[in-house]
Amino acid sequence: MNRSIVTGGAGFIGSALVRALLEKGHRVHVIDNLSTGNLDNLEEVADEITVHEVDLRHYDRIARVIEGADQVFHLGALPSVPKSILDPVPSHESNIDGTFNVFRAATEGKAGRVIYAASSSAYGDTEVLPKVETMAPRPKSPYAVQKLVGEYYATAFCGCFGLETVSLRFFNVFGPRQDPTSVYSGVLSIFLTCLIERRSPTIYGDGEQTRDFTYVEDVVELMLKAAHASGVSGRVFNAGNGNRYTLNETWALLQKIEGIDLPAKYGPPRPGDVRHSQADTSAAVQELGHKPRFTFEQGLRLTLDWYRADLERKTVSTKASRG
Ligand SMILES: NC(=O)c1ccc[n+]([C@@H]2O[C@H](COP(=O)([O-])OP(=O)(O)OC[C@H]3O[C@@H](n4cnc5c(N)ncnc54)[C@H](O)[C@@H]3O)[C@@H](O)[C@H]2O)c1
Repeated sequence: MNRSIVTGGAGFIGSALVRALLEKGHRVHVIDNLSTGNLDNLEEVADEITVHEVDLRHYDRIARVIEGADQVFHLGALPSVPKSILDPVPSHESNIDGTFNVFRAATEGKAGRVIYAASSSAYGDTEVLPKVETMAPRPKSPYAVQKLVGEYYATAFCGCFGLETVSLRFFNVFGPRQDPTSVYSGVLSIFLTCLIERRSPTIYGDGEQTRDFTYVEDVVELMLKAAHASGVSGRVFNAGNGNRYTLNETWALLQKIEGIDLPAKYGPPRPGDVRHSQADTSAAVQELGHKPRFTFEQGLRLTLDWYRADLERKTVSTKASRG
């Protein structure tokens, strides 16, 4: 049976991947320090997996888990541009030192391919859209630099030590279980909870910035494909959907779906934010078999249903605990 490691497996994307791996019959080990992730994300599958509550910065402890694994999906990271600006040290340590440790452990432990969760933030602002892998990176924030360094390490470990690696540059991933409770949360998780609670979201900047929103199941599917594709080791691929929507359009679409009229508030633009984002997916389509199944609106409706049900679950359990 395949033994797969998922770093960051208690997080939003990692927990969706854990479920998909279990469906495929893999034995799954999660490495996570629960800094931004949560074991609630793995609640229904807790009995089927092994969770190692370990920090990626502790080489010896993660090396023991990674040794001999068939695949390593490396998603563990502090995934926030603003956080990396306000408090850069923890991001640097988790995202660069932690990533180096994962590649080193996979090499020394003779593990199989490492699929690395890279980021479209590596592109920064480009004159041309969509963004294609051959463009020179222009990272604008410590987070973007950190994720780019991870890609460089992936390619260098492949070239120098023969480790199989594939880096997937995620664009704006959204879906169930994305944490909406922090100011650093992904924009859609905040929009959707505002929508359900009938509150106006704050849009930073004029709202005309664009994002290539990608539904989490499509990203998970691509990670599974990248684990097995041949002739791609050491490479970097865009893992977006190929579309782009402004934040203003997105909030308008959500209001239409709910049949409400609730104007957004606006705040100052955030440092490090990229203005436009859209993936050229040709390489991933041709070489990895990328085939996103969910339109933006389908993904939004599914995610909205999930947040609504989750909020109801939480309300019921709060009432029950109050007696
Ligand atoms: N969500 C997106 O739109 C997006 C876009 C580009 C790249 N990514 C990348 O995808 C990956 C997953 O992101 P996510 O959105 O699911 O975020 P998330 O915060 O939900 O998941 C990250 C997980 O990593 C864990 N983690 C953080 N630091 C750790 C450490 N030092 N040791 C062990 N575990 C640690 C957290 O506890 C969490 O469970 C990240 O690598 C992120 O950089 C995400």
